[in-house]
Amino acid sequence: MEFSKSLINWYLQNKRDLPWRKTPQPYPVWLSEIMLQQTRVAQGLPYFLKFIDAFPTVHDMAAAHEEQVLKLWQGLGYYSRARNLHATAKQVAFDMGGNFPNSYAGLLKLKGVGDYTAAAIASISYGEAVPVVDGNVYRVLSRVFGVETDISSSGAKKEFTALAASLMPKKQASEFNQAIMEFGALQCVPKNPNCSVCIFNRDCVAFLTGKVNQLPVKLKKTKVTNRFFNYLIIKDANGNTLINRRGDKGIWHGLYEFPVVETETLTSEAETVALIEATTALNFSPKGIRLLHPDVIIHKLSHQKLHIRFWEVTSDTVLPEAVDIEQIKTFPLPIVIHNFIENNWQ
Ligand code: ADE
Repeated sequence: MEFSKSLINWYLQNKRDLPWRKTPQPYPVWLSEIMLQQTRVAQGLPYFLKFIDAFPTVHDMAAAHEEQVLKLWQGLGYYSRARNLHATAKQVAFDMGGNFPNSYAGLLKLKGVGDYTAAAIASISYGEAVPVVDGNVYRVLSRVFGVETDISSSGAKKEFTALAASLMPKKQASEFNQAIMEFGALQCVPKNPNCSVCIFNRDCVAFLTGKVNQLPVKLKKTKVTNRFFNYLIIKDANGNTLINRRGDKGIWHGLYEFPVVETETLTSEAETVALIEATTALNFSPKGIRLLHPDVIIHKLSHQKLHIRFWEVTSDTVLPEAVDIEQIKTFPLPIVIHNFIENNWQ
């Protein structure tokens, strides 16, 4: 009880003034919680404001095209969140009369809404006493209570959920859940937290035993795959270029990109030119092929490290499918492609 009392007092004095905290309606809470998964508040906030402006209600989001949702999401990453967001908006607007389910169990049935998001909405919007467990919660609880369970192990979530539930004052679920996340985001930060000013520094097991930087324990490191993308910037006789929609289930599903030649390694310039000449991604014979940027651009995703080069490929004919660059800028694009266009197209 002391823990939650101190935590909630800290929260009431230190909480950030965030727009979804003003009116804890399920729509803005849901939107913010989807956005804040794997994303810090500072990065997510401008996107939240853009979305609320474009789609003031769940009906507005449901009526939009998926590409409009993806375009607004551009740069936030983990694009399946945006596609699920849109699918859920349609489910809520069309099948539920615009009303979100009013319980944790009901919310769990929505697409893209898992334990975490359902608990966040149910507690913040309806006051239901269900604990949230995210990265912040693992960090705060493992440190304060000295829990050395590996958070990547199968039983960790259950153990931390039970601990959070035992600490949560049942009538203050909203404050408790937001407080523990806010405390993890602002005070009990991953690297070099300033424990000298922490309200728990007389009780925190990690602090008292010198283990702050060892907790939480995470043994399974994420495996990162290297991929090598050669993007082909086609210039046809009219100065137009080709673009494709990524349709597979991998990264960037639903976003647009230039034709790509992917290799297993970082191939030499001569080898790459030969591969580009032979690729089925082009249905014309290039007049010229030229590397556009001397440096390989590194783009890191959670499980992949992309090594990206851009090649200019000219055609002396008009390609009927080629489009104007101004039109391409309106499509949802991976941020690395958007930035390339912004920096290199005049
Ligand atoms: N991170 C994710 N959701 C949050 C919330 N509701 N408050 C603070 N940080 C968060």
